[in-house]
Amino acid sequence: MSCSNQDPRSDIRRLLGYVSLALPMMLLGCGSDAAKTPTVDPALAAQGKDIFRFDTFGDETFWTDTLMMNQAIQAHVDPMTALSVGLKVDADALPAEVVAGVQDGSISLTSTATTVALLKLNAVVGVAATVENVGGTDTITRVGITCALCHSTVDNSFTDGIGKRLDGWANDTLNPGAIIALSPALPEDVKAVYSSWGKGKYDPRFNQDMKNAPQVIPPAYGLLGINRITSTGDGDKISYWNRYVAVTQMGGHGSFMEPRTGVSVTNGTDDQVSSKLPALQEYQLSIDAPAPPADSFNAAAAERGKAVFNGAGKCATCHSGDKFTDANEKLHDPSEVVSEPEPNGAPSYASRSATKQYRTAPLRGLWQHAPYFHNGSAPTLDAVVETYDTRKSLGLTADQKMDLVEYLKSL
Ligand code: HEC
Ligand code: HEC
Repeated sequence: MSCSNQDPRSDIRRLLGYVSLALPMMLLGCGSDAAKTPTVDPALAAQGKDIFRFDTFGDETFWTDTLMMNQAIQAHVDPMTALSVGLKVDADALPAEVVAGVQDGSISLTSTATTVALLKLNAVVGVAATVENVGGTDTITRVGITCALCHSTVDNSFTDGIGKRLDGWANDTLNPGAIIALSPALPEDVKAVYSSWGKGKYDPRFNQDMKNAPQVIPPAYGLLGINRITSTGDGDKISYWNRYVAVTQMGGHGSFMEPRTGVSVTNGTDDQVSSKLPALQEYQLSIDAPAPPADSFNAAAAERGKAVFNGAGKCATCHSGDKFTDANEKLHDPSEVVSEPEPNGAPSYASRSATKQYRTAPLRGLWQHAPYFHNGSAPTLDAVVETYDTRKSLGLTADQKMDLVEYLKSL
């Protein structure tokens, strides 16, 4: 964010103490622009944080009664297995004696009983379980999932997969398909589809249209002021898609209806979704895209790359404004978009959506969430730039491409 200060009194301000005067200006969003800058209600966002992290919307009906995941976890998932499919452990939820036990090896990471103990502590990110003593053994009697399963990770500060929560960051090592495929209740052909998706990907339409093309799990941050949600811009509010996922994917109790795709799902008679959507949305809106780490890009090259972005690369024609997207004005036909055709002969993702188009992706925080494009077809930012150069016949030089990549890393 940059605020130009044209005020002739700015020198006096600096003398008087820049911070005390400038900070209120920044909070207001650069004085006269204040009206344009949407704001977040912190109290509502705080409620939404608990919902995002811990609320299952009653989806235990699906994960326990239908998929029987409680049995699968209890029987097969020791902590090493859980970490290997990308599940994360919240270090802040671990009491000191558990931390010590993991460190000195007295708590086994290859025993399923340890997984049950971690679930009892509510320490597995995005998994909510009820653990009860059944015949002398701690037993998972109910299990469900929360939004944090896919859209939170941890900072690995304790060890790989264990650390402090980072909400809104996509869990790019999570293999949701492999987890679902553990269910003893699924037929083999359906399991095979889930098993094929791999890390960091999930197809949020497969169980509705039976077409199979996993999508990159995107971040749920940096969305304040963007009024088109998902890669195809299906909703104009985050809540639209939150309702979709909570009901049709997580199995939460409530309803979702969308005449444009013909999806119509109602679970249960007790709506446990609708009343939570405003707070849940507010929390996501409150999460900024993370700034790139210091020294993670070459600043001089990035500055030159900015000129390529706005000039020879023609990127800013679609990636416009401070969020780098024209999403609030328009969506784009698949023929304009370089990420189709889909890999492996999969059907166009846009064709399965409500809009049949793509939203120009916002670019803040790009450094954090490879691979790129809805289908993950570009593993790196170099691959993104190469794809644009070829598909749009831009004729960029090797130096221009390198500079453009550094710029993308800096956003
Ligand atoms: C099993 C993994 C999974 C779970 C659980 C999940 N999501 Fe997502 N989420 C995805 C995928 C995949 C997409 C991409 C969909 C698309 O673009 O069509 C997505 C898209 C989104 C987006 C759109 C981001 C953007 O750039 O517009 C938001 C916001 C979001 N999810 C929030 C949530 C919330 C809140 C919940 C809980 C109600 C949730 N998700 C549960 C996988 C998941
Ligand atoms: C015609 C409009 C248009 C132009 C021009 C354009 N983009 Fe895009 N860009 C999009 C759309 C639409 C998407 C989303 C595609 C998808 O999800 O598959 C996107 C996605 C991206 C992504 C992936 C973001 C993510 O989160 O995965 C990057 C990076 C990107 N563009 C960079 C660029 C660069 C660099 C240029 C210039 C060389 C450029 N774009 C030119 C419309 C455009």
